[in-house]
Amino acid sequence: MKVTVVGAGAVGASCAEYIAIKDFASEVVLLDIKEGFAEGKAMDLMQTASLNGFDTKITGVTNDYSKTANSDICVITSGIPRKPGMTREELIGINAGIVKSVSSSLIAHSPNTILIVVSNPMDTMTYLAHKATGLPKHRIIGMGGALDSARFKYRLGEALNAPISDVDGMVIGGHSDTGMIPLTRLATRNSVPVSKFMSSERLEQVKEDTKVGGATLTKLLGTSAWYAPGAAVSGLVQAIACDQNKMYPCSVFLEGEYGMNDICIGVPVILGRNGIERIVEIELTDAEKTNMQESADAVRKVNDLL
Ligand code: LAC
Repeated sequence: MKVTVVGAGAVGASCAEYIAIKDFASEVVLLDIKEGFAEGKAMDLMQTASLNGFDTKITGVTNDYSKTANSDICVITSGIPRKPGMTREELIGINAGIVKSVSSSLIAHSPNTILIVVSNPMDTMTYLAHKATGLPKHRIIGMGGALDSARFKYRLGEALNAPISDVDGMVIGGHSDTGMIPLTRLATRNSVPVSKFMSSERLEQVKEDTKVGGATLTKLLGTSAWYAPGAAVSGLVQAIACDQNKMYPCSVFLEGEYGMNDICIGVPVILGRNGIERIVEIELTDAEKTNMQESADAVRKVNDLL
């Protein structure tokens, strides 16, 4: 199993690190445009192999796509991250050109690969990767909902004063501060609805804290987060590489599902060896349907800028 991660910045490097630590891939190629940067990150990570007990071989390359040839899975993290006060949507001008050229270069060397898009604004970048590569829809996956759901579970655990392993919950919709839809109605603590344990006001607070999860970190860190994004990507990569049939919300191209067409937006999917094995359509309430529609309208507005 060969995995390429484009962009050796904080998210790309964390992603490579988590993939290596889980030790399911034979090779991870880290590619960056900055001379020597990916080589340095790869070497530093490889020097953790004996300490962390993994056999995955991590190599770094400067913009040489021939080294990524025949990758089973390619992850695109390239582009500029958010600065405090910026929305993900504001990154489109620079990141669209980068994602378009990176996805085309990857496909030229790995025509059978599965593509995972992380660059922001992620739903629009996933849509762009579709248009740029023409890959079948099951082989292009946008990473957003897995991260947003992890942040949702963190906030639920905090509000419940419970271990995160007690908590389950999912975020669908667009990967943006206003577009995310944390499904509080379906969130549980060991199968018991979380509403049994907290007031509706507290649950509303959990929802709002989840939606601005990325922005909160950007403000604290001065740039966007990397540990949870890297871990979320590694989860998707592992689900595919190990044919886990695991369910994650991901941004995928919809053709009628959830009543939508010609858009990439976060919905639950089953991930396995073929990428998206199935899109799961869950029953939404009227209010959730309205939220989903508004979220899609916002994603379409950004898509129109392409
Ligand atoms: C975040 C970026 C990865 O939410 O979009 O941290």
